[in-house]
Amino acid sequence: MSIDSQNVTDYTNNNTIFMVWNFKDDMDVKAVFSKLCKLVINLNNSANVRFPVSRASCVMGIGHDAWLRLQLPAPLPKELVNFAPVIGERHTAVSSKGDLHFHIRADTTSICYDMAAEITNVLDAVAVSVEEVHGFRYWDSRSILGFVDGTENPHGPDRELFGMVGDDDATYKGGSYLFVQKYIHNLTAWKGLSTEQQEKVIGRYKSNDIEMADEVKPSNSHIALANIGDDLKIVRDNMPFGSMSTNEMGTYFIAYAGTFSTVQKMLTNMFIGSPAGNYDRILDFSTAKTGTLFFVPTFNMLDEWSG
Ligand code: HEM
Repeated sequence: MSIDSQNVTDYTNNNTIFMVWNFKDDMDVKAVFSKLCKLVINLNNSANVRFPVSRASCVMGIGHDAWLRLQLPAPLPKELVNFAPVIGERHTAVSSKGDLHFHIRADTTSICYDMAAEITNVLDAVAVSVEEVHGFRYWDSRSILGFVDGTENPHGPDRELFGMVGDDDATYKGGSYLFVQKYIHNLTAWKGLSTEQQEKVIGRYKSNDIEMADEVKPSNSHIALANIGDDLKIVRDNMPFGSMSTNEMGTYFIAYAGTFSTVQKMLTNMFIGSPAGNYDRILDFSTAKTGTLFFVPTFNMLDEWSG
């Protein structure tokens, strides 16, 4: 049978709901998980038929501890661990617990809402929702910081090449490592910078989204540190979010990768710095509140586990 992957290679859409759920203690979660596997397959198939132009999908990722608790196959995907914090001199990429992650995308909010509601119906009895972020496309795909986010993502066949596990872990081929962080921005401090200063933080020009020449780009700019070479890429699906009442404006960082070590290297460059101490200036305006690693199995595996 051919490998049928979850939708980890698609581009961002207009609306997204990100959800993280943790299983309650002392609950038999296996039966509910089987139902959930079936539901995720059903939601994707149904969306493809009912709303083909909306590019709607729901991707489910599973954390390390949940994988063990659910007694999913061993050996585990080679790099599936509990994310260990990356501690730099000034900033830390924190680690937070997550059993299941849902990445729901569609062009309309209604589809996202209904998918999230169906998942909640199944999970509610045995798990607690610990994170829910509603992301939206901000103008021409800009982050809340005002810069276009996603330009240097892999395109075409490279999305599969960099976003999915390949032959080096044959059992999990077609799966993907999913790493997420919820960042809150200090917009007051950010807006205190001139456009020229902001551009030096990112390493690109704000209005036209053009990359700075290497001799102009500061070594502590975001893209100078996040770019770790043409052979080490990830598929980013970041979405902005914002709430006026809580004054929480942020970026939900989400990456799909064939190897987690690639993401880890980017985080090391950003938080510890390259060389150490030369950390990513974007972090002076962005605080990582969460950080969790999941594994996204193929639909074939979900089908097997759905009983
Ligand atoms: C505060 C959260 C973040 C924001 C607002 C943000 C925003 C951006 C922006 C505006 C760009 C330039 C346009 C583009 O190519 O997409 C960019 C590039 C990039 N970011 Fe981030 N980013 C964030 C966090 C991260 C993290 C945590 C990683 C990796 C672990 C990362 C990896 C990258 C990579 C690989 C590039 C492309 C670099 C290149 O090849 O030019 N970003 N990001």
